[in-house]
Parts: sequence; C-alpha cells; structure tokens
Amino acid sequence: MNPRKSAKSAGHIFCFINYKLKKVLSMRKIVILTILAFSMVFGQAQNQELQADYHKKMEWFQEAKLGIFIHWGIYSVLGIGESWSFFNGYISHEDYLKQAEDFDAKNYDPEYWASLIKKSGAKYSVITTKHHDGFALWDTKFGNFNSVNNSPAKEDLIAPFVKTLRNNDIKVGLYYSLPDWSYADYTHFTRKVNRYKIEDEPKRWAKFEKYYHGQMKELKKKFDPDVWWFDGDWEHSAEEWKVTEIKNFLSKDKPEVIFNSRLRGKGDYATPEIGMPIHAPKADYWELCMTMNDSWGYQSNDKHYKSPQQIIDIFVECLSKGGNLLLDIGPKSDGTIPAEQENILTELGTWVSKHKEAIYKTKRGIPYEYYYGPTALSKDSTELFLYLRDIPKDGKIVLRGIENKIHRAHVVGNGTILNREVFCNVWWSKYPGLIYIDIPENVIDKYYTVIAIKLDGKIKLYDKKSKAIESN
Ligand code: GLC
Repeated sequence: MNPRKSAKSAGHIFCFINYKLKKVLSMRKIVILTILAFSMVFGQAQNQELQADYHKKMEWFQEAKLGIFIHWGIYSVLGIGESWSFFNGYISHEDYLKQAEDFDAKNYDPEYWASLIKKSGAKYSVITTKHHDGFALWDTKFGNFNSVNNSPAKEDLIAPFVKTLRNNDIKVGLYYSLPDWSYADYTHFTRKVNRYKIEDEPKRWAKFEKYYHGQMKELKKKFDPDVWWFDGDWEHSAEEWKVTEIKNFLSKDKPEVIFNSRLRGKGDYATPEIGMPIHAPKADYWELCMTMNDSWGYQSNDKHYKSPQQIIDIFVECLSKGGNLLLDIGPKSDGTIPAEQENILTELGTWVSKHKEAIYKTKRGIPYEYYYGPTALSKDSTELFLYLRDIPKDGKIVLRGIENKIHRAHVVGNGTILNREVFCNVWWSKYPGLIYIDIPENVIDKYYTVIAIKLDGKIKLYDKKSKAIESN
C-alpha cells in the first residue's frame, strides 16, 4: 500500500473517530442538559405545588385571626409560675409536685369554656396538654404523672374539651412541651442541675424519646388536632428532637395539620410572644401569643390585667400587620375561669361580633403614611378598613394617596354612610388628594370604630413625587 495513502486514510479514520466521539459527547451533553432542564422544571413545578399546598392548608388559620390559648395545670393550685417556678428555684421540685394532690378540677365545665371561647369570636383554641413540668392532662399510658392517676381530678381533662370544641366548630390546637423537667430520663432538670448530656448517655435519651414520641402519637390518635403548638425546643437541636420524624408521624394521614415554629424553626408559622412586633413580621403567617395579665397560668396575685381596650389595641395591631392573636387564659385549679378573664373574653367578643366583616379573612393593611392608624384590607384588596381608636377632634379623619375611585365609606357594624370631601386633587396632577371623612359622634364605638372604604377595584396607592405646576 502507498504509505502516503495509508497515512491519509489513517488521518481520515482519526478525524472520523474524533468527529463521532465529539458527536457522542455532545449528544451526551445534550441528554444531560435536557435531563437537568427537565428536573429543574419538574423540581420547580413540584416546589410550586408544595407551596400551593402549604398556602392552602394555612388558609383557615390566616382567616381565623383570633385564638384562645389555655394554660391549665397543677401550678394553678398555689397560683405560681407554670413549671418555671421550680426550674428557677423559687420552690422545691418536691413542693411544686405536691400541688397535684389538690388539683381537683371539680368545677370544670368544658361546655362553658367552649361557649366563652366561641363568644369571644375565636376560631381556634390551643390548650396545654403538658407543660415543661411534665404533668399530663390526658389519660396517658406513658410516664406516671397525669391528671387521671396523680390528682383528685381523676379524669382525662383534654378529651371532653376537644369534643366540645369540635361540636362548636372551633379548631383544636394542642400545646405540647418537648422538655419534661420532671421525667427522670430527661436531660434538663432545673436551671442549675442538668441530669446528663445526650452524647454521654444515648440510651437514656432513647428512653426519653420513646416516652415523649409515644405521648405525641397517643395525642394524635386520641385527638387528631388541627394545630400542634410545641414549646421548649430551645433545649435541643432539631436533630436531637428528630423534628423531621416528629412532623412525619404527626402529619401521617393528615397532611393539612399545622405546626407552630417552635420546632427549631421548622414549623408553618412564627410565634412572637408577648412583645407585639413593631414592624409587620416578614413571615407569611404569624401569631402573637399574649397573656391577659403577666402570667400564662392562673396566679391570684397577678392583678396586672390589660383592660379590654388594651387587649383590643393589641388585636387590632395584629390585624393591621396581617397576623393572628392567640390570647391566653389561665383557669383556676377547680376549672373556673377568673372573672377578669371572662370579662375580657366577653367584651372582646362583643366588639368582634360587631366588626366581623373587618376582622376575619382580612389581610395586612396599608402603610401608615396613607392613614395615621391601623388598617386592614379585604382578601381581594377592594375594601379598606380603617380602625379608629379615638374621637377625632374636628370630627374628621384623613386618608391620603388612594388612586382608586371610592364608591362608599360606611361604619362597620352600624351601616351609617359617611360624608367625605377631597382636597388638593387638581386637574393638572395625578395626585389623588386628601380625603377627609366625617365621623359623627353617634357612630363612635366604645373601643374601636371601624370605617369600611369600598373601592372601585384592587387598592392602588399613589407614590409619585409631586411636580411644580407647568400649566395652570
Ligand atoms: C414560653 C414559656 C411558657 C409558656 C409559653 C407560651 O415558652 O416557657 O411558660 O407556656 O412560652 O408561649
């Protein structure tokens, strides 16, 4: 064979192989890229679906606005701080536990509790099934410290309450403390005494895990709550608590169940406590839990009650920032609800029922620059609610920068159509002007007067700078 020819054909073969290889490689690239693109699109779609499911399950919660929290336990016997009183060393553990001997719940009337909750306007209620002290209020086969076996109450106190909540169409939330300071195989005991470290005694921790996971499963089986309200997560990491596992077994067959965020942040909504957020929280869903006085549980000596006006102040602020209020009551050890607390629930309920259209299903309002006070919007953003705490000195309130046409302004729960007048709305500028709304004294509510502004469509807020007049 001609050596030149053979070199040439070898070269051809090489080029050919090279070409094929490149083709295969680029084919492979294409395939990989396609798979990647597909999985990204698929991943995105899946993520969107998950997000949609999440928002769907949060809908009732977001619309509910008001919940009643209940802290009930043996601490109400002496009227001392729930669990913390022994943890912080104000009373010995032994003496603290002795309270169980007098926890009789003899006047406990779950029907009445539910009727009061309903009257307050709350759409859900969260009750302590077990606080950090480990005293369980239901008939549990785990552990040996509960209302059935260790107190004169001798009954499951959660079961009848859950039943009556459901009968009254009130959603059920169960508070459950992850820490159990009285349980001999739990890591923490008091502020000064820690029993052990998990890494040193994993078997001991496993024993505790069996106990508290068992209790949670039992609560799920018995009561199947709509909300799990965890507390005390700060004592261990998400891995140590096995948060993912917990969430999995608690949402089995009930994917719509809601978890508060005290699961090392792996829950569905944020739970600021006592301190009303100054700025609206970034979270889509949040709930402020709040005491009526300064105590979660019943403390006879704590007379520092907020007035109904102050409670409604806080509630209105929650509404205007798009959150819920979880307002706490602390029943006495015999099961009666202190008169001050009952009074707040009743007053709140009267106000809520008059103003329901401006409460449930509303969302975060408009910035304060547009109205010097709290506001909320209807779900479709076509109605604006202005909350008016005080009596305006010249009988008028001012709304600014609303681009929409206003169809009507009326007093919620009263119906009076209000007169209004627009200033500074000139033909050469798009500036919508200042809207003065008359508030006659006879429409003023005892707590908050609410004005509904019906707009011609979704609210449009003007935010342009005003210019100098070029033609007049
Ligand atoms: C805190 C306290 C507790 C109370 C709870 C209510 O975490 O430990 O005593 O039950 O907040 O939010």
